[in-house]
Amino acid sequence: MQSSLYSQYLHLKHRQNQTSQTLWNGCGTLEKCQIGTRKYAIKISQVPDDLQHVNIQQTSFSLQRKIKSYVKEQHFYRHYASRLRDLCLLPQAIELHEINGRFITLLEDFEPLGFQNMSSVSTLHIKRVLDWLATFHANWLIEDEDISEFDIFGYGNYWHLDTRPDEYQKMPNSALKESAHKIDKTLKRIRYQTLIHGDAKLANFAFDDSRVIGYDFQHVGLGNGLSDVMLLFTTVLDSEQLETQCSELLDYYFSRLQQALMQKRSGIDFCDLQQQWQESWCFVWADFHRFLIGWRPDHPKINDYMRKQTAISLNQG
Ligand SMILES: Nc1ncnc2c1ncn2[C@@H]1O[C@H](COP(=O)(O)OP(=O)(O)O)[C@@H](O)[C@H]1O
Ligand SMILES: [Mg+2]
Repeated sequence: MQSSLYSQYLHLKHRQNQTSQTLWNGCGTLEKCQIGTRKYAIKISQVPDDLQHVNIQQTSFSLQRKIKSYVKEQHFYRHYASRLRDLCLLPQAIELHEINGRFITLLEDFEPLGFQNMSSVSTLHIKRVLDWLATFHANWLIEDEDISEFDIFGYGNYWHLDTRPDEYQKMPNSALKESAHKIDKTLKRIRYQTLIHGDAKLANFAFDDSRVIGYDFQHVGLGNGLSDVMLLFTTVLDSEQLETQCSELLDYYFSRLQQALMQKRSGIDFCDLQQQWQESWCFVWADFHRFLIGWRPDHPKINDYMRKQTAISLNQG
């Protein structure tokens, strides 16, 4: 630890002008620093015992979920990230430490490399993220195979039903609440699963003139690639745009997924995969809708398009 970059950072901390930004809901900070000629972004996270949130009272269950998310992110950087080399961009993880419940994830800073966050994007940017997601999903796609390799992650994304008993309890009675377990089972039964990013919102990608880099791997796990696509869409398209642009963007995603699978010489029956995932589209939306209603029923992401997809899923049940 003595010679680690993190200890050098601690040493320099008091002398340099560091920039610091708070992580999700006060669970730590993102520190920027320069050591020698290189710039680093250090994600220092610790879940406080008394974590408070405006929308829901935190229970020990939700605290454990949050801690597990930092374990997952470090596991992903330690054992999985290198398998994406030359395929899709992510920050290089230089040091990973866990010291008394504090997770230190020391990454290269992507900003000096020319990447920056964007709060609104064009269709071209959306397609770049879809490219990134398709490549990511193709890399880990499995069909009815032994999924034990991914056991440590469990299911991905932060809203699937197993991880949200408190929000489920909070839901008022409704057809969606009654069907929540059925929807969850439908999604888990799909023959084709992969590792998903799990929190593929626009804020977790940064862009330069021609490329995109993805990060924040706290919710990686098994799942349906379209749940990443759905979450991305909720951050870049409003209800009307969803109505008019979804099908073209989904076609684009599937064409890139097919290409990425071909490059991997995958034996997967792509037509069957596409059909199964496309049929799951309404269930993917309904599943996220279920979470939002329990978490924050007036959430602006609940729009007509989401309600319509939920209605379609309930009609199929
Ligand atoms: N490697 C990095 N280089 C530069 N900035 C980063 C890097 N990693 C994260 N950030 C910035 O810090 C923010 C928070 O990091 P993130 O991993 O998304 O944690 P969380 O969303 O849980 O707070 C990101 O939105 C991004 O702006
Ligand atoms: Mg983030």
